[in-house]
Amino acid sequence: MKIDFNNMLEKTIGGHGITETEINTISQRITKVHEQMNAKKGQMAWRALPYNQDEIVKDIVAQGKRINKEFDNFVVFGIGGSALGSKALFTGIKHLKYNELPKEKRGGARFYVVDNVDPDGINALFDIIDVKKTCFHIITKSGNTVETMSQFMIALSMLKDALGDNFKDNIILTTDKEKGILKKISNQYGFKTYTVPDGVGGRFSVLCPVGLLSAAVLNIDIDALFAGAKAMDEACTKESVWENPAYMYAMLMCIAMSNQVNISVMMPYADGLLNMAEWYAQLWAESLGKRVNNDGKDVYCGQTPVRALGVTDQHSQIQLYTEGPFDKVVTFIDVEQFNTTLTVPKTPIDMLDATYIEGQTINKLIASEMRATEYAVTQAGKMNMRITIDKMGAKAIGELFFFFEMATAAAGEFLSIDAFDQPGVEAGKIATFALMGREGYEKKAKELNKADEKDQDFVFQV
Ligand code: PA5
Repeated sequence: MKIDFNNMLEKTIGGHGITETEINTISQRITKVHEQMNAKKGQMAWRALPYNQDEIVKDIVAQGKRINKEFDNFVVFGIGGSALGSKALFTGIKHLKYNELPKEKRGGARFYVVDNVDPDGINALFDIIDVKKTCFHIITKSGNTVETMSQFMIALSMLKDALGDNFKDNIILTTDKEKGILKKISNQYGFKTYTVPDGVGGRFSVLCPVGLLSAAVLNIDIDALFAGAKAMDEACTKESVWENPAYMYAMLMCIAMSNQVNISVMMPYADGLLNMAEWYAQLWAESLGKRVNNDGKDVYCGQTPVRALGVTDQHSQIQLYTEGPFDKVVTFIDVEQFNTTLTVPKTPIDMLDATYIEGQTINKLIASEMRATEYAVTQAGKMNMRITIDKMGAKAIGELFFFFEMATAAAGEFLSIDAFDQPGVEAGKIATFALMGREGYEKKAKELNKADEKDQDFVFQV
């Protein structure tokens, strides 16, 4: 993987770029950042995941084989960090129409991730699967998340109707080792259960059983995934920003934020990586969007992530990125080698002025469009950078996961905030418990009902 930061700099893009003085000033803090990254390794147990899971991976791979043998469908129920990694793995590595392939080509169960509680969405899934032939992976680290628990309850009752008491094999749980309702259920009923290790927060959990069971069911090469993560770990544990791309990314983004460049656009030029951009969006937003810093001072920091897709969004968002405000960094993800080479054939009719396309590859077209857009954005003086993946596949996906995790953690240190908590998310979870009538949340429910009293002058009913 290659990461080119040149277009972040004043010397390349002009007045709105980052200056050498800014780099020299902030890079003086790198020793402290590095010390903190080392001191907090316990809180960052996700850094050890590519190295310390031999036994668990063996078990997960065996489960993957069992699932693919016994079931037609595999469904992940989870939300946020308990779902987005599986989605990124699925589309980043597998055939883009995987579920529509015949079983012998897929080599395993159809794969679905349900990370919402839209009744139509849930119902649509149950309309197309036979629950008897479906394995459900219920993932919630806290073990309490209402969206995931309600999906689980719906599936359970359907399984009971279809299978009587023989539904245990259709359910796998992943949760905390001791906390939460799901763990209690696991203890009481003896479902097959995996653990989210301590020090592995939801959005950093893709390389533990949260994402690995999906990988195994999808026959993804977990060794290659880990090889990518390890290669990135090696590059991203060095102290110098000049040798450590995650520190460089974090440092330049933090300078950008201090200059009110408050939007981070992730724009992969590959359909399969759009879910990677979605995974990044959660990681970056939930980790860095914080009201207070480590000293308890109000800082209201963070950068709003936006997912865009090359080339599709060249025909929608790029107008804004080139000519709009200087408030964004665009990170292009470029793929050197796709799984397919597709050539535009000579057509049976005269294509007139479009004939120049004949004989050229779509691969060259997408690469040219990436370069052309990068050029336009750079000419417009807008900050951007380019990550180049040599080849789509498990190793590259492992590299991307680990790179962004390290960069996010380092950015948290540059900003002096806690990148591993999510009080804003918890507040929403508590409010939902209250509105859904959970015992112990009565006071919050009253507070919420009061907040619903609106000034009707500003409400329009049409
Ligand atoms: O990163 C996080 O901590 C969150 O996005 C969680 O993953 C998300 O809220 C789901 O939580 P849980 O896994 O506890 O159900």
